[in-house]
Amino acid sequence: MPQTFWDERFSEEGFVYGTEPNAFLVEQAGCLAPAARVLVPGDGEGRNGVWLAGRGFNVLSVDASAVGIGKAKRLAAERGVDIATEVADLATWKWPVAAFDGVVAVFLHLPPAIRPIVHHCIVAALKPGGIVILEAFRPEQLVYGTGGPKDPAMLYEPRQLMSDFAGTEPLLLEETLIDLDEGKFHSGRAATVRLVARKR
Ligand SMILES: C[S@@+](CC[C@H](N)C(=O)[O-])C[C@H]1O[C@@H](n2cnc3c(N)ncnc32)[C@H](O)[C@@H]1O
Repeated sequence: MPQTFWDERFSEEGFVYGTEPNAFLVEQAGCLAPAARVLVPGDGEGRNGVWLAGRGFNVLSVDASAVGIGKAKRLAAERGVDIATEVADLATWKWPVAAFDGVVAVFLHLPPAIRPIVHHCIVAALKPGGIVILEAFRPEQLVYGTGGPKDPAMLYEPRQLMSDFAGTEPLLLEETLIDLDEGKFHSGRAATVRLVARKR
């Protein structure tokens, strides 16, 4: 359970990944239907869920860190938007089935024993036609050291995502080298994998 690590990290003053949304999410949010019901697993301090709520989406943010979710609620209140929240370990959470029009998973890095299970749950949680938007660091990120887990097993490759997200049709699956500017722990040249997929 990663809760202690994340509670400590989010106990810092300010927002460690900033209060602005992930750039790939901003680029791809148009794939989500207007007013869609969107699940944001691993939303941390809430920058992505709060931004989505501000765009009119019906958001549920779920994260293992109570400290992160507390900050997400405060950010939502400051911005004058509503988000539903839950503090839960996604590995044991009672995942709703066919309940969401979209799922947004940004830098949600899980160990190999859990990753495929949680990704299958994401697919099951989507309604048919629902969209998943995901960005994560890939193994080459270890060269750059500008964010993300240091354990290579926690980094994602396109072939793993193809297998994890069976039952969806990929609309975009790419490896990127980008200049990340998303808070002090995600800053500089970075190697990521990006996925947008539609549930069949
Ligand atoms: C790198 S942070 C990213 C936070 C947020 N998505 C963002 O981009 O600002 C990873 C987040 O995933 C959450 N997380 C990791 N493993 C989790 C698990 N098993 N269950 C729930 N949340 C988890 C952490 O608590 C943390 O908030």
